Amino acid sequence: MIDLSSSFLALIVELLNVYCILIDIYRLKSYQSKFSDLGMMLTLEKFYTDYDNVAPTIFEPYNRFMHLGAQAIPKDVKKICDLGIGTGNLSAAILKYIPDVKIIGIDRYGPFAEKAESKVAGLSLHIRDIFDGPLPAADYFVSALTTHHFETPTRRDQLEMIARKGRGFVNFDIMLCDGLNLDGTIDLIVEYAWRTYPCKDTMCELRNAIKEHDNPMPFEEHIDLLRSIGMKVDVLGKENPFVVYHASWPTKN
Ligand SMILES: C[S@@+](CC[C@H](N)C(=O)[O-])C[C@H]1O[C@@H](n2cnc3c(N)ncnc32)[C@H](O)[C@@H]1O
Repeated sequence: MIDLSSSFLALIVELLNVYCILIDIYRLKSYQSKFSDLGMMLTLEKFYTDYDNVAPTIFEPYNRFMHLGAQAIPKDVKKICDLGIGTGNLSAAILKYIPDVKIIGIDRYGPFAEKAESKVAGLSLHIRDIFDGPLPAADYFVSALTTHHFETPTRRDQLEMIARKGRGFVNFDIMLCDGLNLDGTIDLIVEYAWRTYPCKDTMCELRNAIKEHDNPMPFEEHIDLLRSIGMKVDVLGKENPFVVYHASWPTKN
């Protein structure tokens, strides 16, 4: 009797295992049909090489939040500086709403940022560190998925310096929200990514890379800092850990 029930249990466990494997295969297949050129394994190297396909897929609010930020910029703005322009997706979104705006892009990683030149008409690209010398003059400063790279001892001063430089600042980034620390935030990012790319090795690499290179500041600290210097801050979108906000100086009457 005891033997029978334990073999029945073993059978159930085995069936469950097969079911999980089938689900994994199904999820991998549906991912592959989207990115068939990437093959089975998405390495971090491929992540950066094929960033424009992968980032919007594994970070679900990527395109939506870019557009929310782009739409918030006043239409009379003439010159915008995109900090950490990367492959240029935020600037390309801005051009959809303000076609004549002049864009200056700054990024320290040339091979990545040069891809922006084909998307952003008239782009003036500066391959350098954002903080290596003064910022160029611009009406507005914008940034996407970049401020979480700023180092802890200087990041508050750096954000303030950027915010004070123009009429307004639009920032879309990963932030620590709702009391979550870095580990909890990484869990959320990996969970987002897992929905569309269920490959355990990649998730492991992604987790380690975020831990090693990223340093997101708490959401409240961003907002409190900008309000404390007199800016009006509107949170345009917040899906923990992704936030997009628009900070601007109150207009003088
Ligand atoms: C995750 S990518 C985001 C790229 C793009 N803004 C986007 O949203 O798709 C971050 C970019 O910021 C750049 N970056 C980070 N810190 C920087 C710094 N201090 N100076 C210049 N570029 C920086 C990196 O080289 C990289 O291209």
